[in-house]
Amino acid sequence: MKQRAFTIRVAEYERLEELSEQQINLVNRAVEATKGAYAPYSKYNVGAAVLMANGEIFTGNNQENAAYPSGLCAERVAVFYAGAQFPDVPAKTIAITAMRDGILQEEPVTPCGGCRQVLVEKENQGNTPLEIILYGSKKIQVIRQAVDLLPLPFSFPKL
Ligand code: THU
Repeated sequence: MKQRAFTIRVAEYERLEELSEQQINLVNRAVEATKGAYAPYSKYNVGAAVLMANGEIFTGNNQENAAYPSGLCAERVAVFYAGAQFPDVPAKTIAITAMRDGILQEEPVTPCGGCRQVLVEKENQGNTPLEIILYGSKKIQVIRQAVDLLPLPFSFPKL
């Protein structure tokens, strides 16, 4: 028997100004996107902004539906839209923010399991680490690569 351990390194910041200019810009784009979420049921707005390797930024927000499972999370809206526009361009960084009643969430926003799987797939597709910025107004966490948020993701066995 062999034991394997998975370690996640998370960089934590107290203020947005501690991040790089590019990261700050991405967070601001995510915040803007958050305001446009369609979330009449949960009243919880989530926004995401994806920076592509070619410098393009795509944003998304959660899109809910009266038939609840038919909605989609902000991260997936952004990543799928980016994939549809630039299928061959890797995604470099994604910033995620959330607000309720127009107030930004204080704690970092952590993506759901389904979104983690999608982020890992995007990372593998681009063969480039996909950095994740989890924004909260009192704490910001930066994770170096998507797979750190989902060790042992699902993948089809190699043929
Ligand atoms: N939501 C996201 O947009 N991203 C996540 O990672 C988790 C949850 C959305 C889905 C739903 O519209 C609302 O937040 C409440 O669950």
